This record gives sequence, structure tokens and C-alpha cells, in this order.
Amino acid sequence: MKTPYSLLNLIVAVNFLLVLQASQSLSSNTNDDYDFLDCLIHKSDDPDSISRVIYTPSNSSYTSVLQFSINNLRFTSPTTPKPRFIVTPVRESQIQTLVYCSKKHGIEIRTRSGGHDFEGLSYVSQLPFVILDLINLKAVTVDIQTTTAWVQAGATLGELYYGIAQKSPNLGFPGGVWYALGLGGHVSGGGYGTMRRKYGLAADNVIDAQFINANGKILDRKSMGEDLFWAIRGGGGSSFGIILSWKIKLVPVPETVTVFSVDRTLEQNLTKIIHKWQYVAPKTDKDLDIRVVMFSVINPSTGNRTIRATFETLFLGGINRLLVLMQEEFPELGLTREDCTEVSWIESVVVGSSFTNGEPLEILLNRTAMPKNSFKGKSDFATNPISEDGFEGIWEFYNDKIEAGMALLVLTPYGGKMDEIPESVIPFPHRLGSLYMIEYLVVWDGNETSPHISWIRSLYSYMSSYVSSSPRRAYLNYNDLDLGVGKTYAEAGKTWGSNYFKDNFNRLVKVKTMADPGNFFKHEQSIPTRF
Ligand SMILES: Cc1cc2nc3c(=O)[nH]c(=O)nc-3n(C[C@H](O)[C@H](O)[C@H](O)COP(=O)(O)OP(=O)(O)OC[C@H]3O[C@@H](n4cnc5c(N)ncnc54)[C@H](O)[C@@H]3O)c2cc1C
Ligand SMILES: *[C@@H]1O[C@H](CO)[C@@H](O)[C@H](O)[C@H]1NC(C)=O
Ligand SMILES: *[C@@H]1O[C@H](CO)[C@@H](O)[C@H](O)[C@H]1NC(C)=O
Ligand SMILES: *[C@@H]1O[C@H](CO)[C@@H](O)[C@H](O)[C@H]1NC(C)=O
Ligand SMILES: *[C@@H]1O[C@H](CO)[C@@H](O)[C@H](O)[C@H]1NC(C)=O
Ligand SMILES: *[C@@H]1O[C@H](CO)[C@@H](O)[C@H](O)[C@H]1NC(C)=O
Repeated sequence: MKTPYSLLNLIVAVNFLLVLQASQSLSSNTNDDYDFLDCLIHKSDDPDSISRVIYTPSNSSYTSVLQFSINNLRFTSPTTPKPRFIVTPVRESQIQTLVYCSKKHGIEIRTRSGGHDFEGLSYVSQLPFVILDLINLKAVTVDIQTTTAWVQAGATLGELYYGIAQKSPNLGFPGGVWYALGLGGHVSGGGYGTMRRKYGLAADNVIDAQFINANGKILDRKSMGEDLFWAIRGGGGSSFGIILSWKIKLVPVPETVTVFSVDRTLEQNLTKIIHKWQYVAPKTDKDLDIRVVMFSVINPSTGNRTIRATFETLFLGGINRLLVLMQEEFPELGLTREDCTEVSWIESVVVGSSFTNGEPLEILLNRTAMPKNSFKGKSDFATNPISEDGFEGIWEFYNDKIEAGMALLVLTPYGGKMDEIPESVIPFPHRLGSLYMIEYLVVWDGNETSPHISWIRSLYSYMSSYVSSSPRRAYLNYNDLDLGVGKTYAEAGKTWGSNYFKDNFNRLVKVKTMADPGNFFKHEQSIPTRF
């Protein structure tokens, strides 16, 4: 990696120095920052190329590069700490250089793929930090013969799904619903989507990976060993290193699938229907996924606030078989043939991401096609059906509460394949016994937080008697700093460590202690070393 000091290097370094001196905000750190930049350039095997992917706050594109992948506008306020640098590598060796120099100069790395972290951990830190933004590393290489693909961590799910569909109408991947998620964060935290009841999580379908460790070494499954390979499939990549790419197993999908999206309000017996849904959705045919997305809305005919639930469904089969199944198992929903549409699997992805059916598939490649806002999320797992009274209590929170104006409740059924995979196969432990996952989300415009966050906390507190306990389980990809930011093995093990991972936390700590003993890769809820 080391290159001789050339005239070119000197010119590039001097340019950075001038830029830094021009920057007011960095005046007290100019020397440190200069040393860091100097390191990046002189340790790189191609100083000219790396200098073109480093942004300092004085660079005119710094703010747009920073904000492009910020999905939660809560973390765009002027008081949110900003990175000293953003690096958008185009080659893997540039990441190795970055690891070397960040370690040497004590600058923390926050790795960002799609930027959907609920708590902004991929682009906010209280310590001096650099964002490693993988936006330029997004190649998708599909191999039809072996039904596998290599996909770089900076690609989005939309880019992956589109890439697969270009090659075959009969293959898919059981990753997340939302098209703009990054493969780096999403898969390393588990990753569920509409095919999880048939094929499990995204992380269940990873067969190899390219990874950079705290020593800047590039490893694959064989050279990293099975413990580390286990940890990065659901334990969160950012505790261990940098995922460059995944090798994934593609899954068969029928040429035609069926989707429907049916709304019911409280006035249409929603409480009874939801109550029944709990007994059907986690137990029904693996081809059928019925998620429930609930909002608080004004009923136009009464002028009063009500709850509206959308039953969003993917069925891996045709309409006729679906109608028979629904009539047998869930007649309460009153599904009709007119509610259903037969589409290709890739079209179901477009609809699943809230685009209208018939939108060109290329919309999946447009990372800015959907508006953004500020949000706070939390998660729970229901291990027993919730009573109708329990639901009535939830509705109270949405009634006449201005804070809940844009609140969502999403119920995602488990069962099927999710039940068949033992809890310790990957770090994600929420398997047999989890009927469904609950996601709470409160969304608002602007980047001021109050009073929405206290509203969602009180709803979460109300829910404690209806959901899993000891430990109360939570989904890592819906990370929530309210669960605690304990740094030590003991603190974390009693709080977020067991919420996210149950007993798998202990093995994660073992792997962390072995793979990154100096705790170079860390954040508010990263896996601690044992000591
Ligand atoms: C609108 C929305 C919809 C969602 N829908 C779903 C869904 O359908 N299913 C689901 O399972 N989840 C869903 N999620 C949650 C999502 O899976 C997580 O937020 C996930 O972490 C996003 O990955 P990312 O790369 O986009 O995020 P980032 O913010 O880039 O990263 C998230 C975390 O992973 C780390 N990380 C990112 N890339 C790497 C890498 N290459 N190597 C090591 N560490 C890395 C980051 O440092 C950070 O800690 C949704 C989130 C949002 C905001
Ligand atoms: C920094 O800004 C200048 C113009 O202000 C631009 O020419 C240069 O390419 C930018 N650097 C990067 C890495 O984009
Ligand atoms: C966040 O809020 C501040 C004002 O507090 C505003 O200046 C800024 O533009 C906002 N950022 C975004 C991205 O909305
Ligand atoms: C609601 O349920 C009641 C009794 O269970 C039934 O009579 C009524 O028709 C239902 N209403 C709707 C809109 O389905
Ligand atoms: C609307 O709400 C008001 C106040 O709670 C109530 O008195 C009224 O009966 C409701 N109207 C309808 C049509 O349900
Ligand atoms: C992506 O979507 C946004 C919002 O609809 C639009 O403004 C933009 O032009 C689109 N970009 C591309 C490349 O199509």
C-alpha cells in the first residue's frame, strides 16, 4: 500500500491543507485532520484516485453527499454531530487504507450502506469520525447456473431485485420489503421480507462474504472462519468490521404471484378481524404472507378519528388457490377476487415498496423516489395472541392524540420457515414461539423531536404486558437506543444484548473478543469485548 512520495502526492496534500485552512469549523482540529488526510494519501497505492473520494466540510458537495443517504431526517438538525470526513471508495484497497489511517489517528469509522439505521448510527457519532459511505460499491452479479449472486454491500435491495429479475423471472431473494435498504446494514442485521415464511431471512440465505477486519485484511468465509461468518449474519456488521459483499442463494419464485391490499376500519369490525388474524397469519400456508399496517385516520363519513388497517399480502401462487385458502381460513376479511391482482414477483416488489402497480421497474433503481421524514421506531414480538381488550387499549393511544397523527403499527406474521430454523443458527433468535413482530413507528415533518418520542415510549410501556418478556425481545434492524447503551459485557447483556440476541449475545461477545480485541469497530450498541 505504501508508495513513494511523489510530486503528485505533494500537490494533492497541499490542496487539502489549503482547503482545511479555509474551513472555520475545523480550525481547532486542522493539524489532526491534516495528518489523517496525509495518511490517506500517502498510504494509498493510488493517491490521485483516493483524493477524489474524500470530502471535507469545506468541499462544496460535502452536505449533499452527507444527506443523500440520511433516511431519518431527525438526524439532520444543526446540532447533530457531523463527520470530519466522508470517504466514498471506488476500490476495496481504499477501504483498507482508510482502516489503517483511522486506527492510526484515532478517528472512528461509521460505515454506511443504505443509511436506513433507525438511530442514525451509520452517520452520527459523538466522537471524531469519518463516514465510510459505500455508495459507489454496488455491483450485482447474478449467476443463473448456480442460482447464486454476489452483491456489493453498497447496493440497495431494489438494485438486487432488479438485477435478479433481469436474468430470470423465476428467481428472487427473501430480503426486505423496502426497496431502498442497503445490503450492508440490512443483511448483517437479519433482514426480513414478504417471503420469510417460505425461505427465512435474508441472512439465512447468505453463503459467503467478503469482509475487511480491524487490521485492514480482506477475508472470505474460509479465511474468517465459521464463528465470524456466523456473527455477521444477524449480529450487525458494524460491531465486527466492514462487509464488502455477500454471496447469496437465490430462491425459486413462481412466474405469477398474487397481491392484495385490503383496508378495514374500526367501523368495519377491525378489532375482531385483527384478533382472528393472529390465529391465521402465523399458521397458514408458507406461500401466504399477510402483513397488517395500521394508521390512525379521520373517517370521512363520521368526521371522527378511527383506525384503518391495510392487510398487505403476497401470495406465491395464483388467485384461485388464494381465494380458496382465504375462504377456508380467514373469511372474516371478506376478500373478493376484485381485491386481488396477479403480477410477476418483481412487480410485487414495486407494489410492496408503496409504488403504484405498473410503475416501470427502473423505479427500483431510484434511491430518491420516495419522500423522507423524521421518525422513531421500536419493535416487539408477540408470543401469544393479544385479546380484543388489549387492542382496544392500543386504539386509545391513537385517539385524539395529536402526537399520533402519523403513527403506524405494523404486524408481521412469522411461522413457516421462521419456526423451522433453530435459534442459534445465526445470531437472530426470534424463531419458534414468535407469532408475529410488532413495529411501532411515529413519523413527523421537520427535525424537531418532541412530543412524538414520548408518545411512542408510553405506547411501548402499555404493550409490555401483551408481548414477549424476560427478555422482552427486539429486532436489531429496528435498533432502539431506549433499550440502553450499556458498554460493558455485563451491562449490555442485561439490556439490549439480550433483547436483540437472547442467548446468542454470549457467543457474539466471544467472537467480538477474538475478531476485534481492541474494539476498533464500535458504536452506542455495538457488541462489547469480554473484558
Ligand atoms: C423505511 C424503512 C423500511 C424498512 N423496512 C425493513 C424491512 O422490510 N425489513 C427489514 O428487515 N428491515 C427493514 N428496515 C430496517 C433495515 O433493515 C435496517 O435499518 C438496516 O440496518 C438498513 O441497512 P442500511 O444499509 O440501509 O443502513 P445503514 O444505516 O447504512 O446501516 C445500518 C447499520 O449497519 C452498519 N453497516 C452498514 N453497512 C455496513 C457494512 N457494509 N459493513 C458493516 N456494517 C455496515 C451501519 O454502520 C449501521 O450500524 C427498514 C428501515 C426503514 C428506515
Ligand atoms: C471538492 O470540491 C471541489 C470544488 O469545490 C471539486 O472540484 C472536488 O471534486 C470536490 N472533491 C470531491 C472529492 O468531490
Ligand atoms: C433541520 O432543521 C433546521 C432548523 O432547525 C433546518 O435549518 C434544516 O434545514 C433542517 N434539515 C432538514 C434536512 O430538513
Ligand atoms: C360486524 O360484525 C357484526 C356482528 O358480528 C355483523 O353483524 C356486521 O355485519 C359486521 N359489520 C361489517 C361491516 O362487517
Ligand atoms: C364522533 O365522536 C363524538 C365524540 O366522541 C361522538 O359523540 C359521536 O357519536 C361520534 N360520531 C359518530 C358518527 O360515531
Ligand atoms: C427519482 O425520483 C425523484 C422523485 O420522484 C425524481 O425527482 C427524480 O428525477 C428521479 N430520478 C431519476 C434518475 O429518475
